[in-house]
Amino acid sequence: MDRHALLQQLEVALAAIADWQAQWEPFRTDPTLEISPERTAAVLDQLTSRLRENYPYHHPRYAGQMLKPPHPVAMLAYFAAMQINPNNHALDGGIATSHLERAVVPLLAQMFGFPATHLGHLTSSGTIANLEALWVARESRPGTAIVAGEQAHYTHARMCALLGVPFVVAPCDADGRMDVDALRSLLARENIGTVVGTAGTTGLGMVDPLHEIIPLAREAGARVHVDAAYGGFFTLLAHQASPPVDPEPFLAIAEADSVVVDPHKHGLQPYGCGAVLFRDPAVGRFYAHNSPYTYFTSAELHLGEISLECSRAGAAAAAFWATLQAFPLEPERGFGPILARCRAAAVEWAARLQAHPRFRLVTQPDLDIVNFYAVPDGDAPPTASAISALSERIFRGAEHDLQEPVYLAKLKASPQQLAARDPSIIWDTPDVTVVRSVLMKPEHADWVDRLQRAIERHI
Ligand SMILES: Cc1ncc(COP(=O)(O)O)c(C=O)c1O
Repeated sequence: MDRHALLQQLEVALAAIADWQAQWEPFRTDPTLEISPERTAAVLDQLTSRLRENYPYHHPRYAGQMLKPPHPVAMLAYFAAMQINPNNHALDGGIATSHLERAVVPLLAQMFGFPATHLGHLTSSGTIANLEALWVARESRPGTAIVAGEQAHYTHARMCALLGVPFVVAPCDADGRMDVDALRSLLARENIGTVVGTAGTTGLGMVDPLHEIIPLAREAGARVHVDAAYGGFFTLLAHQASPPVDPEPFLAIAEADSVVVDPHKHGLQPYGCGAVLFRDPAVGRFYAHNSPYTYFTSAELHLGEISLECSRAGAAAAAFWATLQAFPLEPERGFGPILARCRAAAVEWAARLQAHPRFRLVTQPDLDIVNFYAVPDGDAPPTASAISALSERIFRGAEHDLQEPVYLAKLKASPQQLAARDPSIIWDTPDVTVVRSVLMKPEHADWVDRLQRAIERHI
């Protein structure tokens, strides 16, 4: 959607909202709130110039961190709903947007194969969504530990500390997925109440073998939480006729006790939109609380009665709802083809890197994160320090390339992670820096050749 079309649509939406607001008697804005158009223009001018201090997150040249531009439909819907600025804490403060939230959560549940009786809601972030899932884990299995993979997001260890729950780390295999044998022995040895599996790790983008982890946890009487904050939407690809991802772990999410997914990652949403879902609606009892201030307008369930956060942007629910109207959560239309393009970009770039004599992959990508490193020219075995220096050179050189700037990220990898895959490395430093790229824009599928040529210039 070009800028002109976007502004036209916005004008129509704002007029419709103004029309609704005009039912009430017009009133004069308080003089304390007034600001001249000139002053507003000056402030915005300062702001827009300050905002230039950013990487071009919107562009396929940006393949660094997990940043995906929100879809214009989401932005329009967010801005339109913000005219009302509803609060999804309670129906008292956000009637329409609470209903929109209650319409989208079952669509996420359906994507994961959760039963219609699930309990769930949007959150401000994946961090808060995971905190809720771990808190429910603690309340469900008091006095037990929580285990997560070595590559799980650091939030799990930190939130366990916050919740006062013992946290156990399960080692990963050479590909960076949770090691099932190691988990089996941890389950036998430790008093574990909940296993956290990750569907798309933040660093390497790998998917833990949930189809093996879940039966193992069940056998040991443990619950399972899946952190699919980044990778959850790839579940749709598991349902494609020829799945471009391993379908088994994604199909297994249906059997988990809880799952987190971030619409503000792969769901085309602006920041401020995570989600948590529980298989058993009875966990709602843990949320029971008295609020002397809210829940007066309706006997219907208020979202604040089933979430830990209080105020939450109703506009986020409006934006996600509108996006799902435009792009359904389906394998072959809407979100499926968008995710498939990201995945195709990663598969193609991994193949290009592997075919080059100077580049090596950290792992074959499971989703759309590709981690790689370059080795020095010649036959001598590479040292970790030389690899790190080359990674720094690619990272800096690509960013500052005047002709073809490309923005990447870096990752610190341990000998345990790399030694089995690349025994040629001489470990003269405790770890090694590799280049990390996240190809989460569908446009990346058309940019692989340029990304590859850009990095080749800096080795
Ligand atoms: C797997 C995973 N879990 C949790 C988080 C934290 O989510 P948020 O940044 O939305 O708080 C991230 C963020 O990258 C993630 O990748």
